[in-house]
Amino acid sequence: MTDILGYKGKRVIVSGCFSGMGEATAKLLVELGAEVHGFDFKESAVPMASFTQIDLRDPASIEAAVAKVGGKVDALFNCAGLAGGGGFPPLDVMKVNFLGTRHLTEQVVPLMSEGAAIVSIASTGGLGWSRRIPVHMQLLATKGFEAGLAWCEANLDQVAEGYAFSKEAVIVWTQFMGAQLIKKGIRINCSLPSPTQTPMMATFHATSGKAVVDAAAEPLGRYTTPAEQAGPLVLICSDLAGVVNGIVMPVDGGFMGGLATGQVDITKMMSKQPA
Ligand SMILES: NC(=O)c1ccc[n+]([C@@H]2O[C@H](COP(=O)([O-])OP(=O)(O)OC[C@H]3O[C@@H](n4cnc5c(N)ncnc54)[C@H](O)[C@@H]3O)[C@@H](O)[C@H]2O)c1
Repeated sequence: MTDILGYKGKRVIVSGCFSGMGEATAKLLVELGAEVHGFDFKESAVPMASFTQIDLRDPASIEAAVAKVGGKVDALFNCAGLAGGGGFPPLDVMKVNFLGTRHLTEQVVPLMSEGAAIVSIASTGGLGWSRRIPVHMQLLATKGFEAGLAWCEANLDQVAEGYAFSKEAVIVWTQFMGAQLIKKGIRINCSLPSPTQTPMMATFHATSGKAVVDAAAEPLGRYTTPAEQAGPLVLICSDLAGVVNGIVMPVDGGFMGGLATGQVDITKMMSKQPA
């Protein structure tokens, strides 16, 4: 079969390759013939070209991991994440989901050239992003991990439980960077998964309640699988998606469309944040 997605021999980095969507993404990329370098807090069993233990809460570990991979990088898949809703300290959630993800991306971009692509997993939990763009622009204006963290510490009222704000930040940052990186021929996008059956789901059920999460799984009527989330991530970073840039891509079985046209009952999700 022709290599229509163009991954054969490409050097790619996947964060969050231990479980869930990141693991499924790393497996798919290995199958497609890419040279996959995996980063995670926990050691991955996927047979990749290399695995490096990182903690996205620690910028030095991110820098060391990227330096170890070195060379040219063709694609970066930001799949690592931490659930919120009180399951983890809000600032840890911000560090993993946004500050560490941004730091990792900023370390990798200098290793990229024209044609390279980045994708990050945001969430339908970040749907409120458009209500507070000026606030997110303040966070985006901070230079580096520590400055971003200092902004978060000074704005704990905005950060709140961490998850929704961190995912909104990924969405606004992706759109902002899309207009910047394209000047170098590099694309950046993000995805909005609906509830997906991964290890993180246990925390979502414990913090938001199963009924709220189930409501966000409409109109599909079921949780998606990690492989169903990995496919669109791999597609959007492929040669086939050459001018798809700065977009916020729902991978949700029609949730966003159902919401926009009044066919999904948002009141069922009002009590707490969905996944
Ligand atoms: N599962 C869902 O329903 C759902 C819905 C929307 C968005 N998301 C997002 O999808 C992404 C993938 O999550 P998942 O559902 O596959 O869950 P998961 O828990 O299976 O995967 C998260 C991965 O991130 C890694 N990780 C956590 N903390 C880390 C740290 N400090 N440093 C490095 N790696 C760390 C974990 O070890 C794990 O491999 C996350 O960003 C999550 O917020 C999930």
